[in-house]
Amino acid sequence: MSTRSESAPTVLVTGGAGFIGSHTCVELLQHGYRVVVVDDHSNSSPEALLRIEKTAGRSLDAVHILDMRDARALAEVFTAHRIDAVVHFAAKKAVGESVQIPLDYYEVNVGATVSLLRVMREHGVERLVFSSSCSIYGDARPVPLDENEPARPTNPYARSKWMCEQVLADTCRAWPELSALALRYFNPVGAHPSGLLGEDPRGVPNNVMPFAMQVAVGRRELLSVFGGDYPTEDGTAVRDYIHVVDVADGHRVALEQLGVRPDGDGTSGTSGTSGASGPAGAAGAGLRVLNLGTGVGTSVLELVAAVGRACGQPIPHEIVGRREGDVTRLVADPGAVAAAWGWRTTRTLDDMCADAWRFQQANPMGYGA
Ligand code: UD1
Repeated sequence: MSTRSESAPTVLVTGGAGFIGSHTCVELLQHGYRVVVVDDHSNSSPEALLRIEKTAGRSLDAVHILDMRDARALAEVFTAHRIDAVVHFAAKKAVGESVQIPLDYYEVNVGATVSLLRVMREHGVERLVFSSSCSIYGDARPVPLDENEPARPTNPYARSKWMCEQVLADTCRAWPELSALALRYFNPVGAHPSGLLGEDPRGVPNNVMPFAMQVAVGRRELLSVFGGDYPTEDGTAVRDYIHVVDVADGHRVALEQLGVRPDGDGTSGTSGTSGASGPAGAAGAGLRVLNLGTGVGTSVLELVAAVGRACGQPIPHEIVGRREGDVTRLVADPGAVAAAWGWRTTRTLDDMCADAWRFQQANPMGYGA
């Protein structure tokens, strides 16, 4: 496999074996970054790391299996590698589970973020992209939501992400050299178009797309559509589904905006060494919060129909009662990121379904098979 220039910036990707983390690693490797992964595999497979390298045609610089709350172990990673920036995904993310075991969510999600920021500060690493969530908006107004919408998180998972944003904001105030971007993604779905990388949830999937895919491939009989009495056109809840490769691309562009870029001449592109570009690249830019979404709302029944088109067969489903904690409509206003970066998503709902189906067909039992 080819290697990067020795002076290319090195990005630490926490949770790099997870669904969004693995796709982001591919994007970064393909654009000439060096990538170090930290993961504890609590909800991911080591196989994903092999798939990253196969998909990208490049190798990861290193993989460290550790629990990020262990600040001492994490510090050793920063000592072993000259880290230029961090993309922090590692977190627990099941909404329902977070209601059952809230302390685990606060301990893991907030604890890991605090530990990471401490170690970054000790090692003078001043660029961070944080994985945040549209769930922070919670039971919001049924309009496209911009970043000024007040936070109304409705469950411990969403509150843990909201707390992390507060931790970041306070840390940026106390540490003026830190520049952080919190990206609030809407509903990431799909898979890499190669069919090598995708979503591989453990146990019964919580989320609609992986569940529908397991129905399509014959692992489950029927998709339950939660709620047919929402005040929407067809009565089912509306979400802003975004292709995971668009989300990954958004993280790559976020790093560029922080001034962390592999230069064409192969010299290090971190702002500290070769000058930042873009407003967020300036030292002391503080915390900026941006939505990552398409701005397009899709109902559950529209999604079920799109999955059916991709698979060439209708998806058996039945409408059942609402799921506790669900909201009617969550759609992004993607205007701020478009204005700030000139960036927008490019992949359609049909792309999301076709790519998810390609992965599911090639890996009917996920990475475990
Ligand atoms: C939630 C979180 C989001 C998080 C995501 C991934 C909220 C508001 N959102 O999204 O931040 O990133 O989980 O963990 O907390 N549905 C069915 N049948 C199913 C599963 C889901 O009909 O078997 C419906 C849901 O009721 C919902 C839609 O499909 O209307 C999407 O659900 P899901 O994929 O679970 O994502 P969210 O709950 O929107």
